[in-house]
Amino acid sequence: GADFAARAGLSRIEIVEELGSTNDELVLLAETQPDEWGDLAVLVAERQTRGHGRLHRPWESPVGASLAVSILLRPHNPDGRPLPTQSYSWISPLAALALREALAQVVGLESALKWPNDVVVGGLKISGILAHLAPGAHGEPPAVVLGAGINVSLREDELPVPTATSASLAAGRPVDRTGLLAAYLEDFARRYRAFCAADGNAETPFAGGRSLLSQVQDATITLGRRVRVELPGGRRLVGRATGLDSHGALQVVEDDGGRHTVGAGDVVHLRP
Ligand code: BTN
Repeated sequence: GADFAARAGLSRIEIVEELGSTNDELVLLAETQPDEWGDLAVLVAERQTRGHGRLHRPWESPVGASLAVSILLRPHNPDGRPLPTQSYSWISPLAALALREALAQVVGLESALKWPNDVVVGGLKISGILAHLAPGAHGEPPAVVLGAGINVSLREDELPVPTATSASLAAGRPVDRTGLLAAYLEDFARRYRAFCAADGNAETPFAGGRSLLSQVQDATITLGRRVRVELPGGRRLVGRATGLDSHGALQVVEDDGGRHTVGAGDVVHLRP
């Protein structure tokens, strides 16, 4: 509870039994109670009745076997200056890196990022991340609500789709759900502070290592692969994913040589 929040540098952490969606709830709280829910406030729900995923899909998660966690952020640098909103596109990848680290530390699992921000183990999805903007209070820039749904200990028959897995299935043993949550939040808070200290610049050295852009690039298994991309309007591209641009958008070279930069969409990895 409060002890952990203070140690990890979170402004607040609340765990509730049931609500619609932790993302929706934090967007509302950011608007209605901006002073009580400051930067790095966390809301966790045991059960969501209206959890949602990317591209307006529902997100279902069995009670007790998964984590639904959202973090409210008001990104600003140590001098109190708000981060440029163009830098916000790096916040979901920051969360994906933190989750990857938590899975390695707590479960001993090696995972990777599938563009845009799924965390996968052996190609199967273990977590999805979804960020929303909340209108800023008193003319301030928008706040960010960063939600993660994590499949912790779903059994085979509880998986929503055949392309999903859970941490315990992948590891072949039980997983400490609270330990995983704590490790994720701690690692995320550390990375987020470094990101804010760098003014949201993804291309400068970061948290004592290489730039955020290159860390995300290295962790992303989509790069270098043949992909089929379904764009939000329904169009499809087939080609090779070659890299990420300075906002984290996916660069794709189509089979006919056409170049595209994809900001949002669904990616299927194809066989070489
Ligand atoms: C996806 O892969 O499509 C993203 C899934 C995000 C699910 C999480 S669960 C916590 C938070 N609350 C929501 O309603 N969605 C996110």
